[in-house]
Amino acid sequence: MCGIVGYIGTKKASPILINGLLRLEYRGYDSAGIATIEKNDISVMKDKGRVKNLYNLKGIDDLTGTIGIAHTRWATHGKPSKENSHPHIDNSKTFSVVHNGIIENYHELRKFLGDNGYTFYSQTDTEVIPNLIHYYYSKDNNNDELKFLRAVRNACKELKGSFAIEVICKDYPDNMIVVRKDSPLVIGKGENENYISSDIPAILSFTRSFYLLNDLEFVILSRNDAKFYDIDLKPIKKDTKTIEWNASSAEKDGYDDYMLKEIHEQPTAIRETIGSKLSENGKCDFEDLDFTKEYLKSLNKIYIVACGTAMHAGLAGKNAIEKLCKIPTEVDIASEFRYRDPIIDEKTLCIFISQSGETADTIAALKLSKEKGAKTLAISNVIGSSITREADFSIYTHAGPEIAVASTKAYTSQVILITLLAIYFSQVLEINNEEINNLKIEILELPKKIEEALKTSEIVKEFSKRVYQEKDIFFLGRGIDETVAKEGSLKLKEISYIHSESYAAGELKHGPIALIENGITVVGIMTDPKLVEKTISNIQEVVTRGAKTLIITNQNIDINGFDMVIRIPNTSPFISPILSIIPLQLFSYYISKEKGLDVDKPRNLAKSVTVE
Ligand code: M6R
Repeated sequence: MCGIVGYIGTKKASPILINGLLRLEYRGYDSAGIATIEKNDISVMKDKGRVKNLYNLKGIDDLTGTIGIAHTRWATHGKPSKENSHPHIDNSKTFSVVHNGIIENYHELRKFLGDNGYTFYSQTDTEVIPNLIHYYYSKDNNNDELKFLRAVRNACKELKGSFAIEVICKDYPDNMIVVRKDSPLVIGKGENENYISSDIPAILSFTRSFYLLNDLEFVILSRNDAKFYDIDLKPIKKDTKTIEWNASSAEKDGYDDYMLKEIHEQPTAIRETIGSKLSENGKCDFEDLDFTKEYLKSLNKIYIVACGTAMHAGLAGKNAIEKLCKIPTEVDIASEFRYRDPIIDEKTLCIFISQSGETADTIAALKLSKEKGAKTLAISNVIGSSITREADFSIYTHAGPEIAVASTKAYTSQVILITLLAIYFSQVLEINNEEINNLKIEILELPKKIEEALKTSEIVKEFSKRVYQEKDIFFLGRGIDETVAKEGSLKLKEISYIHSESYAAGELKHGPIALIENGITVVGIMTDPKLVEKTISNIQEVVTRGAKTLIITNQNIDINGFDMVIRIPNTSPFISPILSIIPLQLFSYYISKEKGLDVDKPRNLAKSVTVE
């Protein structure tokens, strides 16, 4: 939700911090701030609004400190305002803290601190943290080099909820302490400097060498060093991991927006995700998985659990696993799954999909499944992310960093990866048929077909100009096309703020058709030749009632009589969502542009939802 950056080194920290925040702004963008150590005092500069406002703050150019922390906020506790912005500072101005996550027991802690003479200037949950650290610091009479660490550790022991925090202390001007629990934080190692960030892309231009932190590992950072400790303050040894993404993958590269760039990166993302998992001879190989035939045969159910777009990718996964492997598969929304006491045992395999790997509900659902004895498999785009560290097995999409809040290339990469997983399961189960063989051929041809589908851009743009002022747009589809209708509708509402709903086409006449009136726009997706006739009948029903229609279909499906028909290359129905979503991603994009909105940072949303 919020974004955190930190720097400790030999250079002036403030420009590095602001630059890092700009790259993390997609995580939250209602207020921002930085704190640096200036001649043994802490200077905090912050304000409501976008990160770029920091450049206008009086005195920001005069900061010379070489150690600092920074934050871009997505408000949870307390409205966006200067007071509620981070960094926060304790009453004695000894500690400053930035925080991502939620402190669930902050009311109790505020009361406790209030009873001990502390006062508060903000409505945030975070403000208790620097004061609690100060409380423990002031009680510690041992003035050794670990006093700062002990105070942070003791305070963290009191915190309930999730947190990634950076702390600076004016008494330790050459150190910074960082720690995380259920919220992301990475450390990038440079030459005589260390960088801290909520995620890797923001600091990729400085280093490819990263320390990945586990929950409740405390780090004392100095220019040249990173010392790691567990909760009992026993030293831990940790090595860096080299990240293969290159720095330009986190830049716009001449595109107006990250979303447009990421839409166009899909041929590469899919190619990279297929990688060597499917060879020309048709063998499907997941080197990190060793499921046996006996195990897969013993399964009573597979659950696929995720949120938002990742959940829509799960629907394509259900279709592939059930049809190719005949294993009953249920898809659930993580925030529901975790509270509905799902029936899980050791004969259940639970698959969790999350681009970021940091979505709070998905992580909680994974932990629950483990407690109930299921095997867990994570699908993520981020190596070392929380779900991959919690799960028994992890496999990765190789979409590269996805910066735009609206997910595009991560979704299509998830669909291809879970389809490959279904093929792998069918191989282990020794199921072999023409449908699977045909699917394998189609998968290898997919990157080229995506390039073809991207060529629909101009006609999509033209149609978008005709409908961008609409109040409601409906999406209809059957079978696998219904999953795409769901994703198309989510994408549209997310970045254009147009009210949108998706329905299984056959459901229309059971209620929603009452909403169809003259001029309303309906998007029909019909790529499955077996179902197309049925869907056409449903779309005719809305045409009769005066709707404008946009149809997404295949090249070999013969249909006419609609306002706009967009054709994508033919492919296997299992992977058709990867092609049919492309014009719909472009549709949302162009509508949002036409309305003059911020495509990459839609209102009220954040890229990574690390709170419940
Ligand atoms: O990082 P995750 O894949 O777990 O995120 C899940 C959803 O928050 C995400 O897919 C969201 O729905 C997208 N912004 C939609 O474009």
